[in-house]
Amino acid sequence: MSPPAPAAALPRAAYFRPDWFAAEQERIFARSWLFAGLAADAPAEGGYWTLEAGPCPLLLTRSGGVLRAFHNRCRHRGAKLVEGRGAARLITCFYHRWCYQLDGRLRGIPDAQRFPEEARALGLETALVAEWNGLLFVNADAQAEPFEAWLGDAGAFLAPWPVAALTPVHRATHMLRANWKLFLENHIDGYHLAHLHRDSIDGLDHAAQRWTASGRHWLFFEPLSRPGIRPPFEPAGFPAIRQGGADGMGSTAWKLFPTFAGAGGESFVALLNVVPLAPAQTRVDVMVLAGQASPLARAWAGTKAALSRTPDVLAEDVRAVEAIQAAIGAPGWREGPLARGWEDAIGVFRSHVAALIGEGAPGD
Ligand code: FES
Ligand SMILES: [Fe+2]
Repeated sequence: MSPPAPAAALPRAAYFRPDWFAAEQERIFARSWLFAGLAADAPAEGGYWTLEAGPCPLLLTRSGGVLRAFHNRCRHRGAKLVEGRGAARLITCFYHRWCYQLDGRLRGIPDAQRFPEEARALGLETALVAEWNGLLFVNADAQAEPFEAWLGDAGAFLAPWPVAALTPVHRATHMLRANWKLFLENHIDGYHLAHLHRDSIDGLDHAAQRWTASGRHWLFFEPLSRPGIRPPFEPAGFPAIRQGGADGMGSTAWKLFPTFAGAGGESFVALLNVVPLAPAQTRVDVMVLAGQASPLARAWAGTKAALSRTPDVLAEDVRAVEAIQAAIGAPGWREGPLARGWEDAIGVFRSHVAALIGEGAPGD
């Protein structure tokens, strides 16, 4: 099956109108697998952790050794149950004190005689959670496709980076004045690498780039421009961590639909979690992980060298994305042709968004 034609598959309104944003939250984010953090940060036995999966507040718990996900809302009047993270034997609603076990079962209803017998079966509503290769993912829709089916071939693509054995060396949060799709369209745009990042990315052969579609995911690789020479973006002082992978030395990047992006080299992996907050407001959480460096002094030098470049690249991307957002709201705004091959992935991504929004999409 050939991929959809790389055309502008979305109306302008998709980038700034609140009704589009609301439709995406409901039809994409309330039903998709979303990156939730490192598996190492998930709750320990007897613990809980709250997070947002698109529009859905979720609650992760671990009891009897099982990590579970629930909707973070009470089965009585539907109040949000808990905030933050902590340890608890029971989750008790502050409002009328219905209480739940960490496995989701309803434990008690005050003045229970005032409720029908069936009320006793109202446990927490389940959601989905998956731990994979040191990463944690959630899906608010208990009926969604299984995690492994969603991951597909991207699993083999990401497996060379053993996240569970790595250490976070850099974390940052960036707030963008732009729609979430613009950030990701830029991430999968192979044309801008040689131009926007002319001075900030060195050592890669952009002309030899290639990407493949796997399900709705985008998987990308480009080789080193000087084979065998450690490129500037690889932090000196950190060991090689990549375990296998068929492509040889170079830079790998991915975007798992809808919003888990990243890039990996020989000695690091960078995770980008893209969180839509409003039609023209997006949060991007960045985490860079590397192996245990030694000696420590060299590690620091390497970290600093690597980090002095990372923010440059991201700042350039943010500038580009915000520049489109600043212009797209004007009547008459039109996008020109996209670069054959190097920007085709943008059209493919838009066609997936359009298909999920489906009939009755808000107009232009
Ligand atoms: S809303 Fe939770 S007990 Fe009433
Ligand atoms: Fe970029």
